[in-house]
Amino acid sequence: MFAEGQLPWVALMVVIYAAVTIVAYILVPYLFYGNRSTKKRIIIYVLGDIGHSPRMCYHALSFSERGWQVELCGYVEDTIPKVIEEDSNITVHAIPVYKAEKGSKLVSMVKKVLSQILSISKQLWELRGSDYLLMQNPPTIPILPMAVLYRITGCKLIIDWHNLGYSILQMKFSGSFYHPFVVVHFLVEYFFAKFATYNLTVTKAMKDYLVKKFGLNAKSVAVLYDRPAAQFRPLSKDVDRAHLLKSESYIKGSIPEDFDLKQGDKVIVTSTSFTPDEDIGVLLGALKIYENSYAKFDDKLPRIVCFITGKGPLKQQFVEQVHDFKWKRCKINFLWLTSEDYPKLLRLCDYGISLHTSSSGLDLPMKILDMLGSGLPVIASNYPVLDELLQHNVNGLKFLDRRELHGSLMFAMQDPNVYSTLKDGALLEAENRWNSSWESAMRELKIII
Ligand SMILES: *[C@@H]1O[C@H](CO)[C@@H](O)[C@H](O)[C@H]1NC(C)=O
Ligand SMILES: *[C@@H]1O[C@H](CO)[C@@H](O)[C@H](O)[C@H]1NC(C)=O
Ligand SMILES: *[C@@H]1O[C@H](CO)[C@@H](O)[C@H](O)[C@H]1NC(C)=O
Repeated sequence: MFAEGQLPWVALMVVIYAAVTIVAYILVPYLFYGNRSTKKRIIIYVLGDIGHSPRMCYHALSFSERGWQVELCGYVEDTIPKVIEEDSNITVHAIPVYKAEKGSKLVSMVKKVLSQILSISKQLWELRGSDYLLMQNPPTIPILPMAVLYRITGCKLIIDWHNLGYSILQMKFSGSFYHPFVVVHFLVEYFFAKFATYNLTVTKAMKDYLVKKFGLNAKSVAVLYDRPAAQFRPLSKDVDRAHLLKSESYIKGSIPEDFDLKQGDKVIVTSTSFTPDEDIGVLLGALKIYENSYAKFDDKLPRIVCFITGKGPLKQQFVEQVHDFKWKRCKINFLWLTSEDYPKLLRLCDYGISLHTSSSGLDLPMKILDMLGSGLPVIASNYPVLDELLQHNVNGLKFLDRRELHGSLMFAMQDPNVYSTLKDGALLEAENRWNSSWESAMRELKIII
């Protein structure tokens, strides 16, 4: 068949043919697609504790429900919510936690960023071939530039704007914009923000800001409000609330014997991480004025049981403050609840209190959403964007300082009509859930059809 001298050539051709086949059908797909399946795949990045990022968890669940393969990457410090763990469409990829060493802050910050770059690169390599990458911003560095670079693999980038990274950093450096870190952060955020394929924001105010200051295209930004999770729902009508208040194990002993809902006594609740930007002192101050009004002017004032849930750096100081005061009409309980018990407590209460203020003034506190979702009217420390969620005299009341909070409390405690109006408003808001807003935002961006 072949002449003697042709054989090596034929062999060479066969080898080349085999090699090309392997490269084209095995190596190239491996390089570009890794181990992806035929399902749509989305990588979700949370450069924070996954358990404390409810919004990103809802994203994960919503995509999973639509049959997408979800790769949830983030820190696993606390426990991962059970629904996420048990969901067969979601795979959690932990980013190793970087332990800060003693010594220079700058050096440890640089080291932390380098270690993040390393772990994220490794994960992105393993997850290559994904259709979408969804990241929250902030944190911006190093994930935003990396995610933008990752677009060369054909992966579409969705930025979910929770807040502005540079404004949070600015707060850390006592408000100065001209601190070099803040300026660098701002430039990175400003520059790379333009490369997203899709843009989501948590409020209209945030959208307006991005359009005006960062030059994003108004038509290309969808507002996706945070919504309470399914476990935050109003108490059903046929449940005996008074009985539950006295019998539930996680609040056992918190309700005084003579406390009586029928007499108009009220339960209020706030959750906090006891940080300087959330001053529990304002609430305690207002309650002390309430005690004073009771002692001096009106011994018919309803009793107040107040739950303060959470833990944080300034907690001890407030516990002592409460301990050192002689309370007659109010009882204050500090609690640390599991994520299962917290929603159960919320729906047993009458009012939620929020002392949160926002660094950028562009985001809404999750805890107000959870309270409204549980059907509680909220008495909240005011800032402009709050109007997008909470309307004075409709589903809550707003205050600026402890005197106004005291005024709101008097108003809210004494007048049954005020309570029933606000309660109706809150119950109406409670019908607004994550599912439907998520779907309409994703449709608006044409990510789902
Ligand atoms: C996982 O995806 C499948 C479709 O591939 C879907 O039928 C199922 O409901 C999803 N699971 C969950 C828990 O949403
Ligand atoms: C998000 O904003 C960028 C920058 O303006 C834009 O290029 C991109 O098209 C936007 N997203 C959508 C869904 O259009
Ligand atoms: C979304 O709605 C479906 C039913 O329509 C429900 O099964 C699911 O639990 C909801 N998901 C979330 C995250 O609330």
